[in-house]
Parts: sequence; structure tokens; C-alpha cells
Amino acid sequence: MSDNIPINNRKLEKVKLHVSDLKKGMFICEIDRPWLETPFPLQGFAVESEESINEVIQYCEYVHIDVDRSKVENVIIDQLPSGSILNKKGKTFLLDDIENAETIRKQTTNLVNTFWDEIRYGMSPDIHLAKEAAHECVASMLRNPELMIFLVQLRSKDGLRGQEAFNCCVYSLLIGNLLNLTHKQLQNLAISALLHDMGKVLIPEDILNKTSKLTDEEHAIIQKHSQAGRDIIMSSGSLSLGTADVAYGHHENLDGSGYPRGLQGDQLSMFCKIVGVVDKYDAITSTMPFRPAKDHFRAIYILNHLAKEKKIDERLCSLLISYLGGYPPGSIVELTSKEVAIVVNSDPLNRQHPQVLVVRDNHREPCQRFVDLGEKTVDDQGRPYRIASVHRPSDFGIEPNQYFSLILQSIG
Ligand SMILES: [Fe+2]
Repeated sequence: MSDNIPINNRKLEKVKLHVSDLKKGMFICEIDRPWLETPFPLQGFAVESEESINEVIQYCEYVHIDVDRSKVENVIIDQLPSGSILNKKGKTFLLDDIENAETIRKQTTNLVNTFWDEIRYGMSPDIHLAKEAAHECVASMLRNPELMIFLVQLRSKDGLRGQEAFNCCVYSLLIGNLLNLTHKQLQNLAISALLHDMGKVLIPEDILNKTSKLTDEEHAIIQKHSQAGRDIIMSSGSLSLGTADVAYGHHENLDGSGYPRGLQGDQLSMFCKIVGVVDKYDAITSTMPFRPAKDHFRAIYILNHLAKEKKIDERLCSLLISYLGGYPPGSIVELTSKEVAIVVNSDPLNRQHPQVLVVRDNHREPCQRFVDLGEKTVDDQGRPYRIASVHRPSDFGIEPNQYFSLILQSIG
């Protein structure tokens, strides 16, 4: 892990950083392997293009950059300090990072939606684009996990295939990172998560969008998406067996009660188990044709129950739940003052006292006010001021997306 220090805030001669954080203009003075095993000049070199950055990524995981010889300003080094995302005080991040992450989210969701259309009309999707999208997701997640979680939580959960895929990708990478997977493993995990539900493209829309209870026959049709997904991925010819395995096995349960093969825990890959957990979390917290989205606490309760029943992996489940905590960024919460707010910044080590944007006053009238609950612990009457409960956006008629620009402006 590197120093987590922004260049412009501290006098440093050199700083270690993960290759996913390389920016054009940085001068690399040390690498994590012998120079002679690489094509790079011994005296160091500046990365001047995306191509040269990609070349470094092929050879190294970490590098040191010479701060004085780097022609960049306001560059974030490695992962941001916990909780600094969207933190007005710290200013340890760039607006560019947020806009880049949002661009990655949009491009990834659009790509998956395009894949759906292409497969539906008998065309072959360009898998190379999926690999690029996975690469971007990994880089952004390593650079700024809190921001990616914020984007997932804040975006509307309207059931779009691309959004579901992106959400699962982010949550999977969150777990993968906590498991200290290598960069290559994270890349494979990302692409597996992005494509795990592609088989649903073959399910008739009237079944996918049915608002009433499914018949046994319709359930059986839906369950075929696992095998269909595997077949689609295998037929691409350029994806790994592991990716096909995740599509085939993400609805299996550790106790053998899942589908389509009724496999048990030791027969399932780690990636299958990870995507199995996050797919359930995302489904529970997403709006479905037949039910509204459930809130985060309800999702935690259900996941814990499934882990207890040995249907999903307990350790992976607790990694996800522990990291997200009670109020992950993007959560809709009611304060003890009866005000309603959106969580915009939350330190994983102190999720109980996040920075929030108050969007309804105590009379439920619209307002816009940032409050740091870590600093303001009592209200104007001297009473404890904290989060009282967590809700779904629909409970208060709130559309979190409409506040996205405001939150961006507040941190610029
Ligand atoms: Fe699925």
C-alpha cells in the first residue's frame, strides 16, 4: 500500500503508487521488478500517453514516481484516505476522478445494454470492449472504491441490465480487493461479474417484466438463463472458462439447493461465490417488476439469514456487509431531527457519523444543506443529532439522481 498522499500537499521526492493511478506526465523512477526484465530505460522515464501507461501496467503492479520531475498538478496518489471521498474539508480528490468514474459507469452500463441488443438480434458483441470496460472498472475501483459505491447507491435502481451488471461488478471488486486478489484476478472477476447474467437476454420480456407471481413454468424458463449465459460466453471464443463458470454457477447455493446443477460449496469457484453474494444483494436493493426495492438494512438481514442457512458464503457476505456498514454513500436516512438526508461521504471505519446532504427539513419541505454528523453531534436545541433510520428513496419521494450535480459542485 502506498503513502496515500496528494503530491501537492506534501514535499516528497518520490511516491509509491499503484499502476492503476498512473497519469500522463508522471515520471517513473523506480519499478517493482528488475529494470532489465522490462523494456523501460534504466534512468527512469515519463509516461506521456495512455499507451505507455498500459505498457507499464503489463509489467508492474507498483511504481515510484519522482514528484519533482512529474509534470502533473493536483494528482491523487494511490487510493484516497478512507472517508475522504466527497469530503469538502480534505479536498484530497479531483473533480476529474468523479467525472471519470461517472463516465466509466455510463459507458459500462451502455455497453452491457448494447450487448443485450446485439445478442437478441443475432449479432456477436465485441468482447474486447467488455474487457476494456472491466479494466476501467478495476482501475477506478482501486483508485477510489468509496466513489464507485456512491455511484452504485445513488444511481436509480430501475432494473436496467447494464446498471445491474455495473453494480455487481463494483460490489464484486469490493470483495475481491478485500481478499487481496491480484490485478489480473480482479480483471477476470470484473468481466465475470459484468457478463454473469447475459443469458437473461434469451428470456421473453413478458416473463422478465411480469409484475405478478411467476408460474412454475415461468420459473423454469428463467432458470435457463444460467446455461444460456454460459453458452453465450463460450461461443465468444475469447473469454475464459472462469467467466463462463460464473454465468453458469451464480445461482448455485452452498448447500446444494440452487440451480441449475445443485452444486455444493466445494464445487463452486471463489468467483461464483462472490458474484452469488453480490447478485443477491443488488437484487434485494433494486426495484423489481413484481416488488419495490428493499432498503439496505433489510438486505443485510436477508443476506445474514442466507449465510446462516449455508446458502451463501458467510465470509464473503460479512466482508461486503462490514465494508458497506449501516449507511453506505448514497443511502437515504432520516435524522433524529426528523430531517431526511442522503449520505454523501462515509468513512468505512466510521459509517455511523457520515457527511450528509439534508434534502427535507423536519416539516418534510425540500431543502439542501450539507451536514457533517461527525462534527455536528447535537442539534440547535442541544439534542443528540444523528441518523435515526434508513429508508428507500420512494419512502419520501426522493430521486437521489437529481442531487448528483449539487454534490459534485459542493466538492469542486
Ligand atoms: Fe442470474
